[in-house]
Amino acid sequence: MTAAFTLFGELTAEEFLRDYWQKKPLLIRNAFPDFEPPVAAEEVAGLACEADVESRLIIQSPDGKEWKLKHGPFSEESFSDLPDSHWTLLVQAVDHWVPQASELIEQFRFAPNWRIDDLMISYAADGGGVGPHYDNYDVFLIQAEGQRRWEVGGIFDEFSPRRENTPVMILTEWKEEQSWVLNPGDMLYLPPRVGHNGVAVGDGCMTYSVGFRAPSHEEILRGLVEELSGKLKNEDRYQDPDLEIQSNPGEISPKAIAQIRSITEEYLCNDSFLSDWFGRYMTEPKYPDLEQVPEDEISLEQIQEVLEEGDLLLTRNEGSRFSYYQLADDKVILFADGNSFECEGATCALATGLCQNVNIVINQGDWSDQALQILVSLFNQGSIYCE
Ligand code: SIN
Ligand code: CO
Repeated sequence: MTAAFTLFGELTAEEFLRDYWQKKPLLIRNAFPDFEPPVAAEEVAGLACEADVESRLIIQSPDGKEWKLKHGPFSEESFSDLPDSHWTLLVQAVDHWVPQASELIEQFRFAPNWRIDDLMISYAADGGGVGPHYDNYDVFLIQAEGQRRWEVGGIFDEFSPRRENTPVMILTEWKEEQSWVLNPGDMLYLPPRVGHNGVAVGDGCMTYSVGFRAPSHEEILRGLVEELSGKLKNEDRYQDPDLEIQSNPGEISPKAIAQIRSITEEYLCNDSFLSDWFGRYMTEPKYPDLEQVPEDEISLEQIQEVLEEGDLLLTRNEGSRFSYYQLADDKVILFADGNSFECEGATCALATGLCQNVNIVINQGDWSDQALQILVSLFNQGSIYCE
């Protein structure tokens, strides 16, 4: 009997989450049997020449002493000037631009949509890499073509010594604890802060990184405070109508601190406020300036007319982020690209369906005007498109 395909080899997704996720590295040999890279090396180079695409070129002296960083967009000539070895080209958010790459991301939906960041692709010549470093996020490193040797070791943080005067983060106290050579189809999972160093073994080394995201506590608190600012009245203030004489006027009383705590809790310990802010915050587009709004907006009447002629296949924009929060049994708040939409009753199924599936088929009569109006808004803000 052949085992069902799982991304984690012998492990089920549940076992992976229980034993490895955010805990320790895992090498999965042949995670993608007969892996056919959905984006070829030439396409990666082509993307790096596009103005809207975020790309970097890291060139290292063969003795590892000097590192150069260049930001894209690049010209085709800049690739012909490259040295024979020790360089790597990195292209961010390839899933936003290439639908087949975004299909690969679908394999990682064992984690919530809002935890997934993007697919980065690196293409390196022999010896190329970004040097020993750590990331603050979970990452899956899939070997797409050629070979890469991954060294893994220790947990690092912002105070860990790093090389000065280099444009890339290079940990100076780097000591590998384990290493593996990855072949096409192999995948390495690394939890946040685990030091790693990937070096191309031979030319034509292409690595796909599925990166995750997690807001820092600072980002969360700053975001919440920004959300509140402007919404609170100047007259809402600390109050003490029951003030009592203190033996030492210098003391800040526990009662005063209790009131400060209660003010904080009043605003911050409120799930409906937290979920509304968090959903919008975590679904904000990665590149807000590049939002792909349609040239012509559509109206509710237009979508109704189109539906009279037949079913409509709608697709989530590859760069769009969708999530929802269940407020009550028949009330859901849908978040898409930083905006929220309240859904009630049957419309909830539209919200959950859009979050679950990349495509949705709309039939005439299936949806209420409320649901269709949400679709119109999603279409006009560029979050969904029609083939
Ligand atoms: C690479 O693909 O070379 C770098 C990926 C990483 O270290 O996160
Ligand atoms: Co890394």
